[in-house]
Amino acid sequence: SDLYCVFGNPVNHSRSPDIHHAFAAQRGEDVHYEKREAPLSGFPEAVASFFTSGGRGANVTVPFKEEAYALCNDLSERARQAGAVNTLWQRDGRLHGDNTDGAGLMADLRHNLGWKIENRRVLLLGAGGAMRGILGPLLSYKPSQVLIANRTASKAQTLAELFHGSGVPVYGTSLDGLRGSFDLIINGISAGLHGEMPDLPADLVKPGSVAYDMVYGKEPTPFLRWAEAAGALATADGLGMLVEQAAEAFFLWRGWRPDTVPVMKMLRRDAP
Ligand code: ATR
Repeated sequence: SDLYCVFGNPVNHSRSPDIHHAFAAQRGEDVHYEKREAPLSGFPEAVASFFTSGGRGANVTVPFKEEAYALCNDLSERARQAGAVNTLWQRDGRLHGDNTDGAGLMADLRHNLGWKIENRRVLLLGAGGAMRGILGPLLSYKPSQVLIANRTASKAQTLAELFHGSGVPVYGTSLDGLRGSFDLIINGISAGLHGEMPDLPADLVKPGSVAYDMVYGKEPTPFLRWAEAAGALATADGLGMLVEQAAEAFFLWRGWRPDTVPVMKMLRRDAP
């Protein structure tokens, strides 16, 4: 069978093996996808030994995406923009890296949820690696403007500057100074999964606003509960993004696009 893996630390919570096995089963392909916990200081060695032993492709998750980026001989444009790599493969002895996170989010927003991005005012909460990964793909769908709000305002401003010249106005600000209202609000504050959300003004949400959390869980996340209470028209968590970024990686490795809808249903049903 063809060998794949996901590198992370920790990695045992990862749903990627279930997702990729479900994709492969759609065409009866023989794929073995496993979790590999690389030591924090041993990521390059873990990657090298995986490909030496015949691995066909690997995903990369926290905390190795930036290190994977630095390790690659060839990078896609979107990996370059993200400054991070979540999908690896080897060809002619060269390590190739791509980043499918932003494309995965866009597929979930546009196709699964049917949310429009063109001409919408977009608010991004957080300015970490996750946000940097999605900005390029987001801007390619031409929102009218993007505001990045972060606890540390300087990080939001630095990130906004990276995307100056995209044709879309992108600004950075602090969470405290945040005002205005937005058509689409995307949360990338990593504390969101575990309960605490910063206090946000309810009028960021206006009639018709929609809200997306890049994390997901069995219960609605604190951010999505806040958005619902503030009157959002629709909310969604990051389960669709997870499955869509995997589908995009699967396509890079194997050349065909799996059907994501049944796999999202499976994950939702089997949520731990
Ligand atoms: P990720 O890969 O998930 O983006 P990260 O790069 O560590 O992880 O970024 C975490 C993001 O969550 C940052 O925007 C961080 O804000 P700072 O840049 O000010 O550190 C944000 N964050 C984490 N905990 C937070 C909290 N309790 N309140 C507000 N923002 C928080």
